Amino acid sequence: MRIVVTGASGGIGGTLVRLAKSRGDYVVGISRERSDADVHYRCDVLDVACLRGVAEEVGRVDGLALAHGHGEEGLWKRDVASLSAEDLLDVFRVDVVGSFNAVKAFLPALGPSASVVLVASTPGIVGDRYGIPYAVAKGALIALARSLAKALAPIRVNAVALGPIETRWTSWVTPEELDEFRSRTVLRRLGRPEEAAEAIYWLLSPASSYVTGHVLVVDGGESL
Ligand SMILES: NC(=O)c1ccc[n+]([C@@H]2O[C@H](COP(=O)([O-])OP(=O)(O)OC[C@H]3O[C@@H](n4cnc5c(N)ncnc54)[C@H](OP(=O)(O)O)[C@@H]3O)[C@@H](O)[C@H]2O)c1
Repeated sequence: MRIVVTGASGGIGGTLVRLAKSRGDYVVGISRERSDADVHYRCDVLDVACLRGVAEEVGRVDGLALAHGHGEEGLWKRDVASLSAEDLLDVFRVDVVGSFNAVKAFLPALGPSASVVLVASTPGIVGDRYGIPYAVAKGALIALARSLAKALAPIRVNAVALGPIETRWTSWVTPEELDEFRSRTVLRRLGRPEEAAEAIYWLLSPASSYVTGHVLVVDGGESL
């Protein structure tokens, strides 16, 4: 497959890049920092011209994985009174508008059997008192995935709703908070980036050829 991964420098996107390469796929990475992709482009997902330029250079794409995310520590555990509309919009812009921008930019490159995967999160389904801007953006991403599945068929569009996966954010929280995250899951542990990447890879691949508009929950049972 020829796969494009946004957030390619990140914990989950980077793991997906390496997983796909190890399976013989040609992988194009997009993020502001470098990645291990076969070819990497430094683009901000809010820079439409940059994304369009990449899409024109890359040519045909079989799979588009949108694994970027705002992920700012400063918006974690903020009470409602301290949050501004701009805080909500900051996360919304990167996660939702950035995903929309990337889908639009790559649309001419996606053939009828192509697959798009948006990366959402369980707070987008069940809410999260500690990360309201994040939960709002992830809920919107789920609606975007379902809407695009209807609008772009036969191109398949799905989302993953990830639970707590061991990446950069684990350094922002205390050991006690990490224990709380573990205890919220049925499996009593955080997920590994490889476990998230495998789910995204399955949705990108022809193995999921009759799956579209689906939200695949990968959360160790956290949302049960
Ligand atoms: N880890 C978890 O527990 C978890 C759970 C649920 C959902 N998720 C979602 O999974 C995705 C990846 O998370 P992660 O844990 O891998 O986070 P991460 O390690 O912080 O990676 C985030 C990625 O997003 C990219 N990015 C951020 N802003 C960008 C922008 N404006 N333009 C282009 N790229 C941008 C970053 O690249 P540059 O900084 O190089 O641009 C980086 O590659 C996110 O959508 C996150 O919300 C993660």
